[in-house]
Amino acid sequence: MKTVGIGLIGCGVVGGGFARHLLRNHDLIAERTGVDLQIRRIAEPRADRVPAPLRGALTDDWRKLVADGEVQIVVELMGGTTLAKEVARAALSAGKPLVTANKALLAHAGEELFGLADRHHTGIYFEASVGGGIPIIKALREGLLANHIAGIHGIINGTCNYILTRMADEGKSYGDILAEAKSLGYAEADESLDVDGIDTAHKAAILASLAYGCWIKMADIHTEGIRTISALDISYARRLGYVIKLLAIIKPDEHNAVQTRVHPTLIPADSVLASVSGVYNAIAVEGDVVGRTLYYGRGAGADATASAVLSDVAEAATNLGSNRGSRFTRHDLYGKVANIDQVKTRYYIRLSALDQPGVLAQVAAVFGQYNIGISSVYQPEEHSGETVPLLMVLDQASEANFQRAYRDIKQLAVIKEPCQAIRVEDLK
Ligand code: HSE
Repeated sequence: MKTVGIGLIGCGVVGGGFARHLLRNHDLIAERTGVDLQIRRIAEPRADRVPAPLRGALTDDWRKLVADGEVQIVVELMGGTTLAKEVARAALSAGKPLVTANKALLAHAGEELFGLADRHHTGIYFEASVGGGIPIIKALREGLLANHIAGIHGIINGTCNYILTRMADEGKSYGDILAEAKSLGYAEADESLDVDGIDTAHKAAILASLAYGCWIKMADIHTEGIRTISALDISYARRLGYVIKLLAIIKPDEHNAVQTRVHPTLIPADSVLASVSGVYNAIAVEGDVVGRTLYYGRGAGADATASAVLSDVAEAATNLGSNRGSRFTRHDLYGKVANIDQVKTRYYIRLSALDQPGVLAQVAAVFGQYNIGISSVYQPEEHSGETVPLLMVLDQASEANFQRAYRDIKQLAVIKEPCQAIRVEDLK
C-alpha cells in the first residue's frame, strides 16, 4: 500500500474535525483507496486543539511544513485570505496538491491559484468550500459534466439558514440566535461574513465558475444579508404562502450574461428548498440534459466539512503524480455578470401605511405609473401606533423600475417608515 504524507495547516473547528475523523476512519479510507494517509506535520499555534496522538507532528513553521519531503499534500484549513494565499502559492509552486475549504480564498484569488496549479502540474481540491459535506463540487464537475447549466438556486450558508429557521420557529431576533450558531461551530470567526451574505457570495462565485467556466468578481455579485430580516416579515411571508431564505441565484440570462446574486428571498412554502431547515444546505441545479437535481446535507460544522476534506485528500492522494486535480476548464461561455438593475424579479413589500381611506389606491397608482402589476394585497388587522402594515406581492419587474416605484411610494405622505422590500423567487 502506498503511504502519502499530509501537512495540515490550521487545526481549529474544521482542521480538528479533519484530524479526528482521519484517525477514526483511516483504515476504511485505506481499504477503499489503497492509500495509507498519514498526517506528518501540523502547523497550529494552539497545541490543545490538536488531537493528542498527533501532537508529535506539531511545528510552528508552515514554510518548513510545505517544504518537508515527507509532506506530499498540503491541507490548508486556517481560513482568512492573506496568509492562506501565501500558503497556497507556496504549496502549488512546490508542485504539491492543495486541499482547502477556503471559499474566500478561491473567490478572491481562484484565477491566479488555478493558473499556478496548472503551471506546476498539480491540483487544487476544494469540495469543502461549498455546502459543507455535500459533494456539490464533484456533482458539477463530474456528474453534470455533459449539461449546460440552466440555473442554480442554493441555500449555502448554514449559519444564516440556522438563524432564519429559529427565527421562524421561535420568533426570536437574529442576534439572539447568532451566539448559538457560533458556539456550534457553524459561523465564521468574523460573523459578518455569514450574516451579510459575503460567505454565500464566495460560494456562489465558486459554483458559477464551475457551471459557466468564468471567474466572477466578488464586486459583480449583488450581495445582501439577513440583518434586516425581522421575525415579523418571516411571519407575514408565511401567511402569504412563502418562506424567507438567504438564496444564491446563478443563472444565465437572454444576453449570455450570468446573473449571480445573493439576497434574502421569499420562496413558495411548498417548494423543496423551503423545507431545508437549520444548518442544512441545499443546492438545486438544473441541467439541460438531466433536468432538475437537488443536493442536500449539513452545510457547516466540523464533522460535515471534515467529510468533504477527507474525500479531497483521498482523491489528491490517488491522483498524485498523474497531473489530475484542478480540472477547472475555462470556456468563457458567459463572460459577464448581469447587472442587478437589469434583473427581473418579483417583490414582496411591507409598507407602514396611515389607516385612512384611499391609501391603497395611491400606492396602486404609483405601481400603475411604472407598469408594475400587483399579484396580491393583504392588510393584517394589526396596528402599530398610527400605521397599519400593508403587504403586497408584485408581478415581475426590472430591478431599476421597481426601485424607482418603491422610492416614490415611500415619499407618499400616507406611507411612513419602516418599510421592507424582499425579492420573491417562484423556483419554477
Ligand atoms: N460559516 C459557514 C456557514 C461555514 O455557516 O455555512 C461553512 O462554509
